[in-house]
Amino acid sequence: MRSTTRTLGADATLPLLIQGGMGVAVSNHRLARAVAMTGHLGVVSGTAIDLVLVRRLQDGDPDGEMRNAMAQFPVPAIAEQVLQRYFLPDGRRERPYRSISMHSHRDKHVSQDLLVLAAFVEVTLAKRGHDGQIGINLLTKVQIPTVPTLFGAMLAGVDYVLMGAGIPREVPGILDRLAAMQAVETRLDVTGAAAADIIPHLRFDPNRFDVSTAPRRPAFLPIVSSQTLATVLARKANGSVEGFIVEAPTAGGHNAPPRGTPTYDAIGQPLYGERDHVDLAAMRALGLPFWLAGGRDTPERVRDAFADGATGVQVGTLFAFCRESGIAPALRRAVLDTVESGREFVLTSSRASSTGYPFKVASVPGTLSEEGVYAARTRVCDLGYLREAYSKPGGGIGYRCPGEPVDDYVAKGGDASATAGRLCLCNGLAATVGLGQVRVAGAEPGVITSGDGLGAVRTMLNDHDDYSAADVVTHLMGGARGASATNCGPHPGSSKQQSRLEKAHPRSA
Ligand SMILES: Cc1cc2nc3c(=O)[nH]c(=O)nc-3n(C[C@H](O)[C@H](O)[C@H](O)COP(=O)(O)O)c2cc1C
Repeated sequence: MRSTTRTLGADATLPLLIQGGMGVAVSNHRLARAVAMTGHLGVVSGTAIDLVLVRRLQDGDPDGEMRNAMAQFPVPAIAEQVLQRYFLPDGRRERPYRSISMHSHRDKHVSQDLLVLAAFVEVTLAKRGHDGQIGINLLTKVQIPTVPTLFGAMLAGVDYVLMGAGIPREVPGILDRLAAMQAVETRLDVTGAAAADIIPHLRFDPNRFDVSTAPRRPAFLPIVSSQTLATVLARKANGSVEGFIVEAPTAGGHNAPPRGTPTYDAIGQPLYGERDHVDLAAMRALGLPFWLAGGRDTPERVRDAFADGATGVQVGTLFAFCRESGIAPALRRAVLDTVESGREFVLTSSRASSTGYPFKVASVPGTLSEEGVYAARTRVCDLGYLREAYSKPGGGIGYRCPGEPVDDYVAKGGDASATAGRLCLCNGLAATVGLGQVRVAGAEPGVITSGDGLGAVRTMLNDHDDYSAADVVTHLMGGARGASATNCGPHPGSSKQQSRLEKAHPRSA
């Protein structure tokens, strides 16, 4: 069998293909596991993972997976408490989900414990029954849950951490400290804070968790959109960076904004130009492995990445709509039908996400991409992962989000114009994976994000109804559908890359 990895440091190996992290719970443990079992890197989403766990428990955890993984958590009392509070053996029966408190710098231990447990569960399930590698993806912008989520993933033996949507400069040092079982303090980002203001620190002490052996430090791969950012992270991060995901603005999810003064096309999409092209010679000169992401959806484009000196590629869109994806079955079917009929359309919206980053929204019937569905939704902010901390005029710290009810946002000093066209990504993305809240007015609508290359899913369908994660791997590695995903014909890499890989892998005969 041809191996698909080579050695990285003492204990991790470099994959050729990374299935990108896709939140919320699109890249769940099932998808990541399916990819890892083909010998490539499967990545679970760690975004809002506490919400995902408690809602799955309230849906009755029908196959018992959550409870099985919870039983392995090193602090049984925490797992027991969460079970007692949220598990409903017969499910919710269409009743609203019981909520969890929104995160703030005042988070109590119970909120941190839930994050640690939830990340542990997701990674444990993704790693079950194989010796492949699993990563976890987090958004840098979602600051408060990050450290407990990382620790939970590390307790389950996560191999890689991948983070974008911001500059994760402090994360390498955080991973070092967690691996040494040392307490971590991070400074909360507070909008409008003056130098004299007292800024709260977020504190997490891993020693509250009674574990017999310290967890291993995973490899860290920041997601960048420019060689400049990669250079800053390689030189100025507070610990080691093991490589980079270099993401083009064609990729699904959030994108980096264009450089310089923004300009827009006739439908409001940001325009990217020459300055947004990553200088791959500069990336190679950094001497660290890198993976190219965004539209790497054919064997030819994978091969091009190798020819450009990349270690491999990261792919999201093709995996997002495969059988093992976390997207609710009816929504996934709606996307596949849209693609099959050639009617797919993906908007790069500069308004949708309250992070302020461009966010891709695919047009799918019944979702927030439709004006009527968007207008019919009553604004409510009760999950709050994307809220920003701000300095209150009279002192103290408040939280606000331009996706919340307009009057609330304005009362907190926000600018009303910032609210126009914003989606509630927290509620929308939870609904996309079948975990949407039920309101008096009905169920929360979902929202589908995808790369510009959604049409490439047609190739995967190729007269079939559906396709699997292994089919995606086979396709990208240049093999025929149905062939083994781990042994799929000519390797797409350049001969130089190939021989490097083979030299590093005596296993690969
Ligand atoms: C449905 C979906 C959700 C995504 N969510 C995230 C996310 O939560 N965090 C992240 O870093 N990237 C996210 N991405 C980006 C992917 O990890 C990956 O980098 C990207 O999809 C690669 O480009 P492609 O879509 O053209 O394959 C998402 C992509 C998709 C399609």
